[in-house]
Amino acid sequence: MTRILFVCLGNICRSPTLEAVARVEFARAGLAVEVDSAGTAAYHVGEPPDRRSIAAGAAHGYDLSPLRARQVVAADFTRFDRILAADRANLRDLLALRRAHGTEPALFLADAEVPDPYYGGPADFEHVIALAREGMAALIASLRGGDMVAGRGR
Ligand code: 4NP
Repeated sequence: MTRILFVCLGNICRSPTLEAVARVEFARAGLAVEVDSAGTAAYHVGEPPDRRSIAAGAAHGYDLSPLRARQVVAADFTRFDRILAADRANLRDLLALRRAHGTEPALFLADAEVPDPYYGGPADFEHVIALAREGMAALIASLRGGDMVAGRGR
């Protein structure tokens, strides 16, 4: 089974949103994929997602409430087949953690970032949902061996 890890900074806003959207959309697509998420930083380890992310997800049918934050660990680079970063800073941090032969991390959106909504407002959290849905459609196409959707995703 394919295993995918979504990564952001705190693992309380973007990557748990990506994980929750992935669970629903992969199931809808009939794809058996194991998904998880983690943060490059340890600030929020053990905490549930940000309540604003939980609310934005719930409004679209995505349940983030059972998720708890964890930090990326070295074993993730051998356990996961794809490690997908929300933004370029997350990608740089992942590349610094990666050892030889481990899965090479990539951006979740091939040519764009999922911007950090933490210091933003409701529209920023809504934007994360939209980007998560868009990127997941491209990722599903990629997993099926299909073409990239609108040139995004991996
Ligand atoms: P995330 O958002 O990386 O999408 O989970 C953030 C969460 C917490 C912080 C920054 C970004 N923080 O500085 O605590």
